[in-house]
Amino acid sequence: MGFLPIRVSTLKSDIQLGFDVYIQLPHKVLLYARGSDDIEAHRIKYLKGKKVRKLFIQESAESSYQAYIDRCLSEAINDESTSLEEKSSLVIGAGEATAERIYEDPHSKKSYDAAQNTATNLINVLGQSDELLRGIFDHKIDEESKSNDALMQRHSVNTSSLCISFAEYLKLDKSLVEFLGVAGLFHDIAYSQYDEQKKALFFKPMKEMEAAELTEYKEHPKVGSVILQDKDFASKEVIDLVLSHEEKKNGNGFPNKLTQLTPAQEVMSICAFYDREVTCLGKTRAEVLDDFNMNQLGNYELDIMKKFKAFVKKAGL
Ligand SMILES: [Fe+2]
Ligand SMILES: [Fe+2]
Repeated sequence: MGFLPIRVSTLKSDIQLGFDVYIQLPHKVLLYARGSDDIEAHRIKYLKGKKVRKLFIQESAESSYQAYIDRCLSEAINDESTSLEEKSSLVIGAGEATAERIYEDPHSKKSYDAAQNTATNLINVLGQSDELLRGIFDHKIDEESKSNDALMQRHSVNTSSLCISFAEYLKLDKSLVEFLGVAGLFHDIAYSQYDEQKKALFFKPMKEMEAAELTEYKEHPKVGSVILQDKDFASKEVIDLVLSHEEKKNGNGFPNKLTQLTPAQEVMSICAFYDREVTCLGKTRAEVLDDFNMNQLGNYELDIMKKFKAFVKKAGL
């Protein structure tokens, strides 16, 4: 019998599990909670206090686990006694678990399906709570689990959430919002293909890169889109957004130096840029907005930039 890890951060108390949950001890795996039960709040608190981050389920229970995550999110969002912090933590936990899976196994249909499911969930919960986006951005990564991989997972979830909310704000077509949600999770998937040295480029400002590093870094949208391009389950809109996420309308972007971007491509580019500055390069949100005024003029349609700033202000970012 095979086991799959699940994150403790995706569990919510008082929701019936629907699958058995196991805990890994040094020499064995033990049944921790039965599928017919829920997990009480104090047990979740205890696990978090003991720094247990992962529990296990049987491989065959995977779809029940997905359905459970959906239930937890919709319960939490509508529950007034759940704090914004708890809501954000659940959404991020579920999103990061999907991002981790995408980075570990970028070629599989299962990862793509998980991204689609997560994007649908994000669209749902962000649409129901005006303050959730700010909650997501305010949610700090705890110091001891801070690694480059963890930052990239967070960057995927943030970019996806930002794309969804900004696209909704611009009233883009529903199908575009979905493509943007999935592409936000996948956009830097090339990261999964690189060695440590190349991975480090994702945390380095472009103006500090050596020429050879810059050439290497500018390949990443192409490398990412190639992963998806021969998959019949991947939609071509998502593949295109992965390929064009670093394009700017003045032709300064890469890899194709496009000079015309569709509204969806602009949303993708602006949101991926904003969150790279915040999550990967460690700038404050205010610094990034200042930079928009100073250095990003010409990179995007003026109208989109104005709307992005108004959107960020409204969202409290
Ligand atoms: Fe990128
Ligand atoms: Fe990115």
